[in-house]
Amino acid sequence: LSESNLKNKNVVITAGGTREAIDPVRYIGNNSSGKMGYALAQAAAYAGAHVTLISANSHQPKPNGVKLVPVTTAKEMQTAVEAEFAKTDVVIMAAAVADYRPEETFDHKIKKDSAESLEKITLVKNPDILATLGQQKQNQFLVGFAAETTELEAFAQTKLKAKNADMVIANDVSQAGIGFNSDENAVVVISADEAKVVLPKAPKTVLAQKLIELIATRI
Ligand code: PMT
Repeated sequence: LSESNLKNKNVVITAGGTREAIDPVRYIGNNSSGKMGYALAQAAAYAGAHVTLISANSHQPKPNGVKLVPVTTAKEMQTAVEAEFAKTDVVIMAAAVADYRPEETFDHKIKKDSAESLEKITLVKNPDILATLGQQKQNQFLVGFAAETTELEAFAQTKLKAKNADMVIANDVSQAGIGFNSDENAVVVISADEAKVVLPKAPKTVLAQKLIELIATRI
């Protein structure tokens, strides 16, 4: 077996779903389990990379030989990713990052019948971590995911360009049994200069190995 191009490379992988607090007991979140990102982290570590796994709210077991950085919110994830970015060779953003957060976070639980109502919550936009990295990148290889429910490849192409990524891994999150919080996934890999690669439904651990091998050939 030939040695992986990822050997001794610094790889940052994000996983899980960010949570944006409304008050101490409520938040805006999503269904990401972290399984896809954790599987990628394990596969990258097996390929010999130095892996930092920035993980939002996942209950997955820590992969072997990986530095784990737990975060809660999108802003915390951005700070953690940016702290690593200058010395990073590859970034893989598998996390589901909340696009919006409440404008105000209450420091006490809002009571259902109190004058402070939660019937309307004003949201503000979160930073787009991947797009910001796309603007800053020097030699880093940037991999994003695209979670789509329609027009999978077209929207993935749009994200590749809009975020200045080198590769986008698109998954159809409307299909039962793949995508969020399942053990399996099915993806189409899009990049600017290469033909698309279709990886049919398989366990996330198997797909992660294939994706890491593919990334290793492209860096
Ligand atoms: O965690 P699992 O349960 O295993 O599920 C895996 C997954 C479905 C979450 C994963 O495969 C996946 O698709 N992750 C990306 C989810 C997502 O937020 O996709 P998006 O199309 O909204 O975002 C596009 C890309 O921009 C992603 O790489 C995302 O990490 C990044 N992003 C998005 C918003 C934001 N504010 N900042 C970002 O960096």
